[in-house]
Amino acid sequence: MRSLVLVVLMAFASYGVAADGKQLFQKCIACHGVDAQKSALGKSKIIANMSLEENIAALKGYQDGTYGGTMKALMKGQVSKYTDEEIEALAKYITTLGK
Ligand code: HEC
Repeated sequence: MRSLVLVVLMAFASYGVAADGKQLFQKCIACHGVDAQKSALGKSKIIANMSLEENIAALKGYQDGTYGGTMKALMKGQVSKYTDEEIEALAKYITTLGK
């Protein structure tokens, strides 16, 4: 019984917690590198070196199809489901990786 209460409490605690950029970035690592210092598939910029505004603009642009190069459809698939809050958390985390 006590553990059930705990599980319910933990469910409430995690609900509404701010988006975690580091955790969201895990699925980007395969192409962009663990520290965002790789040119993804030899096509992208080094995203860790882009500013916060540039990263947000790029990610939102991929979502609505207004940004990108020859492989923008691929990136649209990567980011289409994220909320604005998640995009901002991702962009913030990426810019902490810049040198
Ligand atoms: C399957 C490989 C792959 C994955 C996974 C991937 N990307 Fe990309 N990303 C690319 C490629 C390729 C480009 C260049 C696309 C183009 O032509 O515009 C790119 C471009 C970008 C850019 C813009 C850089 C530029 O050159 O203007 C950002 C920012 C970015 N990705 C962030 C992310 C984030 C955040 C994730 C995870 C949610 C992610 N990517 C997942 C391959 C990937």
